[in-house]
Amino acid sequence: MKLLVLNGPNLNFLGIREPEIYGKTTYADLVRLIEDYAAKNGFDVDCFQSNHEGALVDKIQEAYGNYDGIIFNPAAYTHTSVAIADAVKAVGLPTVEVHISDTEKREAFRRISYVRAACVATVQGLGLNGYLKAADILKDMLK
Ligand code: DQA
Repeated sequence: MKLLVLNGPNLNFLGIREPEIYGKTTYADLVRLIEDYAAKNGFDVDCFQSNHEGALVDKIQEAYGNYDGIIFNPAAYTHTSVAIADAVKAVGLPTVEVHISDTEKREAFRRISYVRAACVATVQGLGLNGYLKAADILKDMLK
């Protein structure tokens, strides 16, 4: 199993941005956490972060034929981007939507997710462990 972990805008600022919401762990720590989990659980993983909508669309398209599934935190693009939702639908790869915070318990605009309809599951409010839970979901689905 080969998974792509995609993170959207401002997630490179993990550990700095709003630590009361997103915690004090950095993006580099998140990548290490995911890579260690992959090594322990016998799957391959690549991590990619971008602040740009088109770069995320390009990466989703590149995943076609190269990955078995996607773990995806589109960050603010969750609530705005039809292009990202369309890209996930276009490639047809099983994708789990992840949010570090519980978007249901925050501002009303965060309750809208364009990408959700294209995803097999949503994991939110579990902090960084949500990414590992998403890997478990894909592992169960793909075996
Ligand atoms: C987020 C939630 C989004 O509403 C926000 O724009 C983010 C991060 C999360 O992981 O909790 O940037 O996706």
